[in-house]
Amino acid sequence: MRRIPTPARTTSRRASFRIVRTTDRHADSVARVIRRAHDVADDELCLSCPTPAMVRRQIRRFPEGQFVAVRGHGDDERVLGVAMLMRTDRPPSAKPKPWLRMIGGLGLRNHVPDGRWLYGVEIAVDPDAQGQGVGSALYRRRLELVRELGLEGMYAGGMLKGYRRFRSRMSPREYAERVRSGEIEDPTVTMQLRRGFRAAGVIEDYEDDEEAGNCAMLIVWRPQPDGSVVRRRIVGDGSERRVASRRPSTSAADVPGAATPASPAPAPAAPPTAPAASTVGRAASKRATAVPKARSEPGSAS
Ligand SMILES: CC(C)(COP(=O)(O)OP(=O)(O)OC[C@H]1O[C@@H](n2cnc3c(N)ncnc32)[C@H](O)[C@@H]1OP(=O)(O)O)[C@@H](O)C(=O)NCCC(=O)NCCS
Repeated sequence: MRRIPTPARTTSRRASFRIVRTTDRHADSVARVIRRAHDVADDELCLSCPTPAMVRRQIRRFPEGQFVAVRGHGDDERVLGVAMLMRTDRPPSAKPKPWLRMIGGLGLRNHVPDGRWLYGVEIAVDPDAQGQGVGSALYRRRLELVRELGLEGMYAGGMLKGYRRFRSRMSPREYAERVRSGEIEDPTVTMQLRRGFRAAGVIEDYEDDEEAGNCAMLIVWRPQPDGSVVRRRIVGDGSERRVASRRPSTSAADVPGAATPASPAPAPAAPPTAPAASTVGRAASKRATAVPKARSEPGSAS
């Protein structure tokens, strides 16, 4: 089977940054970084981009689950990246919902304070800071939170961002299957599969996102009982190869980003139940598009 690689990265890992909990003073920057990462202009209407007020609401709902990667201090502090999370009682084996319905709007109305699962709401890195390990540090921090809170695990819909290059050749579902098997590398989903997540299904109409054919991979991660972490490679025949294993760091809220080598993420203790590829209803959000669609759950409602 021929492996189709993604284009080579042109930037190097050089940034010095740290991961901290998001506070109200970060709200404006968080909203801006998300727009920039998704290529939405400042004056463009975007119903799936949180406003600063929504970011503050997220912080009030689930302060432990909101992170930023920052560089500098005081007035010079700059937000490079963002990770937003919520807790849910809905296991990953339940029928997937479109993104905005799952989270209950951008104020995270569906956050369940004692939910047993962590759900990945958003991860975004400013384009100027991409390719420097910021995203990896945020991904790691999410998994550390699972351990800190003693949760069952974490799951998310990973948008299949690389689909745009294959649109004329295959359906989003076929693309997802080839990413899962390792034949194609997707810029967002493959990196998470390498970090211990397992592909547990395809979610069509997860979020309006032309690049991804509106399609996401349901990705699930469970902590290893012994705390070891594993980095895996998917090889051409779809099997997984263990390439490294170590104990995780026990860092608290602040994690020196680039100061830490790109460390591997834990692998699941047991493969999660992989539900049959499931289809969900109409897309619920509109990212990077000026024309709003009728939407029953605007983020501002939460
Ligand atoms: C996805 C995203 C968060 C990654 O952040 P980042 O800071 O660039 O990530 P890192 O520098 O830590 O790199 C992580 C991995 O992505 C790869 N990568 C980074 N930029 C890449 C690019 N332009 N093309 C292909 N791969 C790339 C890196 O090689 C690395 O892979 P590996 O370590 O598994 O070999 C960032 O690109 C982003 O914000 N994208 C837009 C928003 C988005 O798509 N969010 C995710 C929605 S599911």
